[in-house]
Parts: sequence; structure tokens; C-alpha cells
Amino acid sequence: QTAMAEEAKKLAGYAAVDNHVQDNQAVGVGSGSTIVYAVDRLAERVKQENLNIVCVPTSFQARQLILEHGLTLSDLDRHPELDVAIDGADEVDSELNLIKGGGGCLTQEKIVAGCAKRFIVIADYRKDSKALGEQWKKGVPIEVIPMAYVPVTRTIARRFGGVVVLRMAVSKAGPVVTDNGNFILDWKFDQVHDWKSVNTAIKMIPGVVETGLFVEMAERVYFGMEDGTV
Ligand code: A5P
Repeated sequence: QTAMAEEAKKLAGYAAVDNHVQDNQAVGVGSGSTIVYAVDRLAERVKQENLNIVCVPTSFQARQLILEHGLTLSDLDRHPELDVAIDGADEVDSELNLIKGGGGCLTQEKIVAGCAKRFIVIADYRKDSKALGEQWKKGVPIEVIPMAYVPVTRTIARRFGGVVVLRMAVSKAGPVVTDNGNFILDWKFDQVHDWKSVNTAIKMIPGVVETGLFVEMAERVYFGMEDGTV
């Protein structure tokens, strides 16, 4: 099962890089475990085809990946317009709405995706869903300013139902702290919502930095399948 999923991630990552990256592009690099395969392929192609590519990371992890692969690191100051951004997702619905932020990098991921002409998502078959919440049970990640986490938790639960939990660190006593120095709430919703309006409403709550709902952003999603197709 795990070996199959890893193979599926690789297929998706390779397909996205092969179909959407060309010479002289600025590329947004997502976070998570699937993007690792895309960066492998990108580094391979840059070497083989002598491509001139600059990469803008979405997290500490993405930055490390870019550097370890010998790719050219850039940022949105120098490249505010990206040709393409490639990233993973925790779940994708039939309208290509996404839940992201399982790895806590949602804010920078959304900024980078928003700067790209094309936002391409890569995932294995387990992320393919009709409606959000069908596969991904951990809810919608929401990045909050630390001092606001209790009021934001209460407001979301009161207005939208479900359960909101502060994400705790695994090998440290205390909450997960994001690359931006903030906390993550995981909103375990109990019904299907109009994700566009819920996303807007949550963003308007004071203290919310960003949500892991990516609505009307993804242009195309590559799913690696169990049978080896994409
Ligand atoms: C990181 O915060 C997330 O948004 C990831 O992009 C998402 O969790 C996908 O990760 P995997 O590729 O590891 O499934």
C-alpha cells in the first residue's frame, strides 16, 4: 500500500514537471512528500537539458529541497510573477477545490500559488475525493496569530459547527509553530459547506492569517493511480 502510494506520488510529480516546466521559467515549489519527486525530476531535467530555471519555495522544507538539489533559489521580491507553481494537496474535490496545510505550510503555499500563472497540483490516488472531508479526516488547517487562537477557535465552532483543535507538536511539549511563527488550528467540519464563502468568512475573523482551503486556484491536478497511470 505505501510502496504503491509512493510510486503514485512519483508518477504525478514527474508528469507535472514534464508537462509544465520549460526553459527560462520561474517555478513555485510546494511542500510535503509528493513535491520531493517533482523536485527530483526538475533537478534531473535542469542538468540534462541545461535549463535556466529559478525556484521560489513555499516553506523551510521546500527551500532545503531546492538547495540540496543544486537548483537556483529565488523569492517573490525578485520573481513576483511565477510561470507555474507545483504543489501537493491533502484532498481534492470534483471541482478542484483543495484542502492543504497538513504539513502546516498553507500560508506560504497559497501566496506562491497566487503569484503563479498556472497552479498545478500533484497527488496520489488517495487524495481524490468527490467532496472535501470524504478522504481527509483531519479537517481544514487554519493559521492563526497565537494570541487569537482561543477566540478564533470559538468563533469558527459557533458559526460553522464541527470541532476546532489546536495542532500540537509531536516531539516538543506545546503547539506546532509555523514557518511564520504562528499556530495552526484544525477545523474538523461536520458537513459539506460552500467552500468559497466559508473560506472568505473565516479569513475575515480577526487573527486568522490564512486557511487551507484553496478554492478556484488549481488549474489541473495530476493523480498518480494504483495501476501506474496518471
Ligand atoms: C503542506 O502544508 C501541505 O499543504 C502539503 O502540500 C500537503 O499536505 C501535501 O502533502 P503530501 O504530498 O505529503 O501529501
